Amino acid sequence: MNALIGGSAIKSYREGDKMLSEKIAEALNKQVNKEMYSAYLYMAMSAYSTYIGLKGFANWFMVQYQEEMVHAMKIYDYINDQGGQLKLAAIEQPATEFESPMDMFEKTLEHEKFITRSINELVDLAIAEKDHATNIFLQWYVTEQIEEEGNDNEIIAKLKLVGKDGNGLLMLDKELAARIFTLPATAEAGGA
Ligand SMILES: [Fe+2]
Ligand SMILES: [Fe+2]
Repeated sequence: MNALIGGSAIKSYREGDKMLSEKIAEALNKQVNKEMYSAYLYMAMSAYSTYIGLKGFANWFMVQYQEEMVHAMKIYDYINDQGGQLKLAAIEQPATEFESPMDMFEKTLEHEKFITRSINELVDLAIAEKDHATNIFLQWYVTEQIEEEGNDNEIIAKLKLVGKDGNGLLMLDKELAARIFTLPATAEAGGA
């Protein structure tokens, strides 16, 4: 059967020149899904922030959404660059309502800790499979996760200080309104 027509005969045009093991390709595909879910989750938090009148929080979460899309696309590009096959799966539905700004940031931190564990497991797998390229590629994510958890912890600390003080919350909202999305240098250059 002609490979371009269909069925199980379809093979990568780089068959025989695949840089990724099946195991690594599968794990990276799952990570694309997790990053897409992260984007979706923060989009939901942005929408909810707008709904309750906190435009600065909405901005912060929308910038976070954009960052997560970059995380997903960097892995997407990497799988393609290495001759692997992209397999997109359904993205889980995020919550639509949250109890408070603190609730959103606690859930954000909890989710980022889950992502950090996932990245660490990917690094473990790359080392076990002796896949040096993937190991190096993942280092960017290891560093990124330190920054993300740090940011979340910082905002949680501020929210604790603010407590039930409405003025404090509005001041924090103003601060979060100033966050600007910047494309990471490695993504601009077309991947890590
Ligand atoms: Fe991410
Ligand atoms: Fe993240």
